[in-house]
Amino acid sequence: MSNRKVLVTGGAGYIGSHTAVELINAGYEVIIVDNLSNSDRSSLAGIAAITGVTPTFVEADCCDREAMERLFAEHDFQSVIHFAAFKAVGESVAEPLKYYQNNIGSLVNILDLMRRYERRNIVFSSSATVYGDADVLPVTERTPRKPATSPYGNTKQMAEDILRDSVAAVEHLNGIALRYFNPIGAHPSALIGELPRGVPNNLVPYITQTAAGVRECLSIFGDDYPTPDGSCLRDYIDIVDLARAHVVAIDRMVEGRNKEAFEIFNVGTGRPVSVFELVHGFEEANNLKLNYKVAPRRAGDVTAVWADTTLANEELGWRAERELTDTLRSAWAWECHVRNIKQ
Ligand code: NAD
Ligand code: WQD
Repeated sequence: MSNRKVLVTGGAGYIGSHTAVELINAGYEVIIVDNLSNSDRSSLAGIAAITGVTPTFVEADCCDREAMERLFAEHDFQSVIHFAAFKAVGESVAEPLKYYQNNIGSLVNILDLMRRYERRNIVFSSSATVYGDADVLPVTERTPRKPATSPYGNTKQMAEDILRDSVAAVEHLNGIALRYFNPIGAHPSALIGELPRGVPNNLVPYITQTAAGVRECLSIFGDDYPTPDGSCLRDYIDIVDLARAHVVAIDRMVEGRNKEAFEIFNVGTGRPVSVFELVHGFEEANNLKLNYKVAPRRAGDVTAVWADTTLANEELGWRAERELTDTLRSAWAWECHVRNIKQ
């Protein structure tokens, strides 16, 4: 079994493609499996252009038992990073079974194959959404999870529990759940980035599409929250910093430095940023004006959530490094690349 090979499920997607780049840069061989349900092959070309290495790509659905069995039989990776999932909160409310089937089905499939093919390490994409509307901020990994407010959020809570139980039951298995806060930005090369389909749900793609003229006006959802400027507070984590956290999590398990067989880490900056701060930061970083208006609150939004990153800093030896200004520049550079806009 090769401890330098990693299977990256959902590796053609936003976080997966950036992680593939950092894994390759760190000397890992990457095998990507993706069904391209929310991505396309251009991200694979981007990974190759940045690293000079074309990762092995298998187009398959992680819920497809036979296809995944073939993949495990043919490739001797010791570790898996499991990104493949659906992630649209609103859609998950309208179509919960689609989310339970894909997000839970794919994880169960992967874990069962890891058990049978004796693969050792898995990193799972969890989310700050598991904290819900936390009573005490910032949240640590020991902060109690709140009942999920969407089927999507519920899949993340359930998946963490499924992973914990599987690791406890299977002697050779180690797992790390990374709870991402709000990933934003793009690779500094502007060759890979986020490719939302349709109208973006998330703030930064909405900002960049408004700046590009694709959307007319950004709505700021609420200016009457109990925060310093009335808008919500989030912990916006640069995508390359987030990708690096996966490499150190894999290194930790490959080198046997994990203290427990199952561990959880917050991956954020530890700094709360308001919607207004982010919007003005984007304008300043890119020297442009954004068309925006204040709109009513969005249902389901929590007032504030940001990470206590002590555990990741001390245990993983990881911290967020990229300045917010640089991240916001990279987000705009990527939008310009996608839309063929001269900056
Ligand atoms: P993304 O949609 O860009 O990437 C997910 C990739 O998985 C896509 O390429 C999609 O085609 C693929 N995929 C989905 N279901 C699949 C299946 N059954 N088989 C094979 N491929 C499949 O999303 P992302 O932002 O890169 O998110 C990656 C992971 O991180 C997800 O699990 C998501 O829930 C989690 N996460 C994302 C955020 C965020 O804000 N982006 C925050 C917290 C957690
Ligand atoms: C950020 C802030 C909005 C759009 C979501 C998921 C979470 C995680 C990350 C996967 C909020 C405000 C937004 C807009 C706005 N994903 N906003 N105008 O909601 O913190 O988290 O993505 O796990 O689970 O819920 O991120 O980018 O949607 O919003 O004012 O057009 O921007 O109200 O305060 P969120 P977001």
